[in-house]
Amino acid sequence: MLHTLDEQHSALKEAFLGFGGNMHALAHSAASDEILKNTLANFMFEHFEIAAYKSLIAMSEFLGHPAGAAAARASLQEEEAMAAWLDERIAPTTITFLERLKAGVTADH
Ligand SMILES: [Fe+2]
Repeated sequence: MLHTLDEQHSALKEAFLGFGGNMHALAHSAASDEILKNTLANFMFEHFEIAAYKSLIAMSEFLGHPAGAAAARASLQEEEAMAAWLDERIAPTTITFLERLKAGVTADH
């Protein structure tokens, strides 16, 4: 589908690459809270993907490309499922982080 949307393709590609680069840098910052930060970053990234697929669905429908919209809807459902999975883990991950912090446990690298 993106081959038919050249302008949107380059803009979306740059947005994804730029965002991915930021997430890569965040994921590799050495800190004892990196698992918690990664959890938050992953949750944020899933919602960025959800927004991107919703935009792709709107583009596909506007351009009369039902197959593209269907493919984007399938991907959207996967991203929403992953976001829900992560959502359930934010509080437990935070509590585990605080318990480890209180116990003086540090991350090994
Ligand atoms: Fe995702």
